[in-house]
Amino acid sequence: MPSTCSTSSTTPPTTVPEPTGERLQKVLARVGLGSRRTCDELIEAGRITVNGEVAQLGRRVDIEVDLVEVDGVPVGVRPGLVHYLLNKPRGVVTTASDTHGRPIVVELVPAEPRVFPVGRLDTDTEGLLILTNDGDLAHRLTHPSFGVDKEYLASVDGQPSRGTLRRLREGIELDDGPTAPARAALVAPSTVRLTIHEGRNRQVRRMLDAVGHPVQRLVRTRIGDLSDHSLAPGEWRALTADEVRGLEQAIARGRSAPSE
Ligand code: URA
Repeated sequence: MPSTCSTSSTTPPTTVPEPTGERLQKVLARVGLGSRRTCDELIEAGRITVNGEVAQLGRRVDIEVDLVEVDGVPVGVRPGLVHYLLNKPRGVVTTASDTHGRPIVVELVPAEPRVFPVGRLDTDTEGLLILTNDGDLAHRLTHPSFGVDKEYLASVDGQPSRGTLRRLREGIELDDGPTAPARAALVAPSTVRLTIHEGRNRQVRRMLDAVGHPVQRLVRTRIGDLSDHSLAPGEWRALTADEVRGLEQAIARGRSAPSE
């Protein structure tokens, strides 16, 4: 019988799935964590997790779905995300559209990609406002449980006493409940610096009304660690990768802080 060479076999050929996604070190380098070598070192040190698991060298990620964290802080790895810091002038409305034809904050920043304000400032309030198309960060920044500090300078009627400042610090009974402890200091005879981490409607104005010192002018001067005295009213700039990471860290700190 002639010998035959059969190509059929009962064992299917072994196929190695094509790796998908982008190399993690490349993604990390792109968002500014350092050179690829530095990013490899971060991975080797076990400081990078993907979906909660410590990443190994050579790991690939799908930036649309995977959650990448450095030291437990999410890294904004999706391309196309923009984050602006605007110094909102008085009289501009914090919405993406206004039916009354008033000026709106999104008209002060580039039209594309479309961004939206994170939280809101009253039309009469000036100062720092973040605008972004990063819905996840926006949600976490505004969620009450994350409690990122916001600092305001309020010019008020009269001169608040030390007792009044203590009341502001300890919490004020408002019609929608007591305010959480705040920081309050008098920085000029009629100027209060108030730092709160809640984001209730017209909260600073209502707190100062409640203690008998109505607000004449209100300026937000800090969000988390973000401040910028060089931005004139109406001016904006893009946040740096470090600043976006700083916000993530402020959220993480807020989340782990004991509730007051
Ligand atoms: N508190 C206020 O009363 N107004 C603002 O715009 C922001 C905080």
